[in-house]
Amino acid sequence: MLRLENVSFGYGAAKAGGENSLLLRGVSLTIAPGERWALIGPSGCGKTTFLHLAAGLLQPLAGSVYLAGEPLRGPHADISVILQEYGLFPWKTVLANTALPLQLRRRPPAQVKAAAERVLKDLGLWELRHKYPGRLSGGQRQRVAIARAIVSSPRLLLMDEPFSALDALTRETLQETARALCAEGLTFLLVTHNIEEAAFLGEKIIIWGGGGEGRVGRVLDNPGAGDPGYRSAAAYDACCRQLRSLLRG
Ligand SMILES: Nc1ncnc2c1ncn2[C@@H]1O[C@H](COP(=O)(O)OP(=O)(O)OP(=O)(O)O)[C@@H](O)[C@H]1O
Ligand SMILES: [Mg+2]
Repeated sequence: MLRLENVSFGYGAAKAGGENSLLLRGVSLTIAPGERWALIGPSGCGKTTFLHLAAGLLQPLAGSVYLAGEPLRGPHADISVILQEYGLFPWKTVLANTALPLQLRRRPPAQVKAAAERVLKDLGLWELRHKYPGRLSGGQRQRVAIARAIVSSPRLLLMDEPFSALDALTRETLQETARALCAEGLTFLLVTHNIEEAAFLGEKIIIWGGGGEGRVGRVLDNPGAGDPGYRSAAAYDACCRQLRSLLRG
């Protein structure tokens, strides 16, 4: 589904500063269709930058990104992204924000209406459809961002800390929503700094290399992720412990 080959990237002066000043150095990674990945690492290590490269929002300085075997040269209709700051339009209602990706693709109005209604009902947002984002709680806004990302049935969903800044229960409810979505075969990559979230949702977990290495440090297999009762499984506890110790380095 998504392949990164020897990707390097740095911002501004780092571009000219040589190999050692780059944020990402020779990163290679393959995500197969239907796989659910999490990426975890400390603040400032380059997670959002990595996601933007995978989404075609940034272009690598060296190396290549491929979507289903084709070079990714910019944003693509098959990829939906949930940005770290939600990215909702404040002047559009919940319904209009949700319908936007389909309107931009000029789908017939009846189809747009039906698809938006379905996801808003699935996510418990239908009653809020005429409200503006400024009148919603953080958790409600987050659900609208999810609705907008899935309304177009993307093949690949990239999420940047989608559940941070939420109370523990809302967070678990939305993690459950994400789990249900991946049960429908959606491929996703979730960026998080939350150990429990990575362990619950990521069947493969990338631990970003510490010490400014700019590389994928290690990929942990976590095959039970996505099972409804996984939070009470011994393997889940073991995965959290292992992540904690790997992150401490
Ligand atoms: N547009 C930009 N221009 C210049 N430097 C940037 C830009 N965006 C990010 N950076 C720098 O690149 C580094 C990595 O940023 P990035 O946002 O990818 O980190 P992150 O791992 O997502 O952090 P967090 O967990 O805090 O969201 C940081 O040092 C940041 O200051
Ligand atoms: Mg970030």
